Amino acid sequence: MSEVAQSPDDERVAASSRRSAPWPTESLSFGGDYSPEQWPWEVVLEDLALMREAGVNLVTLGVFSWAVHEPREGVFDFTWLDRMLDLLHENGIAVDLATPTAAVPMWLHRLHPEILPQDRHRHPLAPGGRLGWCPSSPVFRGYALRIVERLAEHVAGHPAVRMWHVSNELGGGNARCHCPVSNARFREWVAAKYGTVDALNAAWGMAFWGNTYSSFEEVTTPWGETAHNPGQLLDYERFSSDELLDHYRAEKDVLRGLAPGVPVTTNFMVGLGPDVVDYTRWADEMDIVANDHYTFGPDPLRHQDLAFSGDRMRGLSRGEPWMLMEHATGASSWHRINQPKAPGELARHALAHVARGSDSVMYFQWRAPRSGTEKFHSAMLPHSGPQSRVFRDVVDLGAHLDALAEVRGSTVASAEVAILHDNEAGWALKSGLKPINDLRYADTARAVHNALFARAVTADVVAPWTALDAYRLVIVPGLFLVSDENARTVHDFVEAGGTVLVTWFSGIVDEVNTVRLGGYPGAFRSLLGVTSEEFSPLDADQSLRLDNGWTVRRWAERLREPAPDDGAEVLARHTEGALAGGPALTRRRVGAGAAYYLSVDLDPESLGALVDRLLEEKEIGPTAVVSRGVEAVRRVGDDASYLFLINHSEDDGRAEASGVDLLTGAEHSGIVSIAAGGVVVIREHGRS
Ligand code: GAL
Repeated sequence: MSEVAQSPDDERVAASSRRSAPWPTESLSFGGDYSPEQWPWEVVLEDLALMREAGVNLVTLGVFSWAVHEPREGVFDFTWLDRMLDLLHENGIAVDLATPTAAVPMWLHRLHPEILPQDRHRHPLAPGGRLGWCPSSPVFRGYALRIVERLAEHVAGHPAVRMWHVSNELGGGNARCHCPVSNARFREWVAAKYGTVDALNAAWGMAFWGNTYSSFEEVTTPWGETAHNPGQLLDYERFSSDELLDHYRAEKDVLRGLAPGVPVTTNFMVGLGPDVVDYTRWADEMDIVANDHYTFGPDPLRHQDLAFSGDRMRGLSRGEPWMLMEHATGASSWHRINQPKAPGELARHALAHVARGSDSVMYFQWRAPRSGTEKFHSAMLPHSGPQSRVFRDVVDLGAHLDALAEVRGSTVASAEVAILHDNEAGWALKSGLKPINDLRYADTARAVHNALFARAVTADVVAPWTALDAYRLVIVPGLFLVSDENARTVHDFVEAGGTVLVTWFSGIVDEVNTVRLGGYPGAFRSLLGVTSEEFSPLDADQSLRLDNGWTVRRWAERLREPAPDDGAEVLARHTEGALAGGPALTRRRVGAGAAYYLSVDLDPESLGALVDRLLEEKEIGPTAVVSRGVEAVRRVGDDASYLFLINHSEDDGRAEASGVDLLTGAEHSGIVSIAAGGVVVIREHGRS
């Protein structure tokens, strides 16, 4: 993994200088959220026996336990916690101890109803549920830090406590608040950022529709029903992310002071972007970067969604092992329909996360509850008990992870392809009106990633400020917002011999969401040698053919015919409609490299053909030669390399590899068979 050239604050930080945090378990971590406060002690004793049977070595404890630790205002009682920590420790199970600030006690809601976040209609959320607090509320912060302090003081030095889990999924429900406190804080944030009202008016373009401010006092959060200014919308997203990060830092500072040496994290929700808060800019605050990932049962590409999220997590952790903090053994319960995992999928998903760099397999949750909102959410131990298929699968998985113990600490082999991803681009994309108003950020990134996945090519999904020199091919997929500096990084990469593919609707606006003039794709125009004059989106039932046979859907552009001075050659042209004869795909040789511009949205097959061309040109091969439907990812340790082969298809598969299968002990020489739906992990001969 490459070093980082430029953090958001423009600090230069070497990847190797980061995260010396100890991992909470000796081998791969295995376990889940554990809520014994919801059960009588005899059930807890059964839990411990079953956890031992399954090989559980880490649980996340206390996520929703504030009312247990502080049953009444200012009355603290850690008897339950003490007993649980001792019991878990006696059973060899480490604890990822949560600060309970996701679960506001009802007494606090009664005493301070003003802490509730307000939605964009300025209606407060009701007490109950979780994360019922305004991120900017000083009242909530005071109570939160007090319980964190008491908790940390109390458990400091307990050998079971191996990691801190700050709150839970910060922003999951309280990321956007419009209460008076948030409004006042937003005004301060905006004033600090822009300094003068004139600078603010200029940055947000408030002259449009005559919305010019005469004082910072007029600035509000973008509440209610109106077409808010896109600059304001984007900054409000940034502000909201900053406020929650500030809360995380405040808790972390308390934990650091009272329990030094214990790593601190919080669980992200990295799926298809943009994220609810800006994890790309949060990640460096984590001692270990952790994620919750849930698949959607009916999604036929759910394993590819998982892979995309895993590759993003690796980008966030700068190539170092990250922690899968939550996923599901089966169905979740918040979708319209919640389907269990298919046979074998529990193991495939768990090991696919490990393949992509997770050093843990953690679930929500250990035991399925019998009451509460999520009583039908799957668990390691389902309602039907230990005789169930799921629990047997969990026990088998525990044995697999034990057999893979030596993988812990290894890292995913350096990728040759990077995909640039930035939440701010996603936030800007959804702020204000667009040629297509239901575009989803990262759809193009995901489409390219799918094509790479199908070719067994691993890609890192990284922030645009990442140093790119270690890569051979960089994809800039619909990066709507980009700064001059980040565009420059891409330019330098190409000059130095890299190949870049910039796709449609990239480089359109700057950091304040203002259109870059002179033709699209503004920030990359000179690199690409093209000028796009007009967007020409297609309706759902429309498509266009290119002269090389490729199919265009959703998006096309009127690209000016490149002049000889522009240096761009046209590789594919439109054949139909108003754009017939015009360029669709171009390439410009720059320095030792090449810059491609794809001005159209291609169907998966055509995009696959383009990806093939780029891979061939850059001589980038697959991680391993595999049959269709087999995922292949390699991790590399000090003494060995590990090839994960995951067969997502219903047919038996094959791969070219040699070594010993760590899961069965079988030796393979040359060809490995992977049963339909099966997983093989090879410690490879002749590689390290
Ligand atoms: C996560 C959350 C868990 C649980 C899980 C299943 O987002 O952190 O507490 O709610 O989803 O829905």
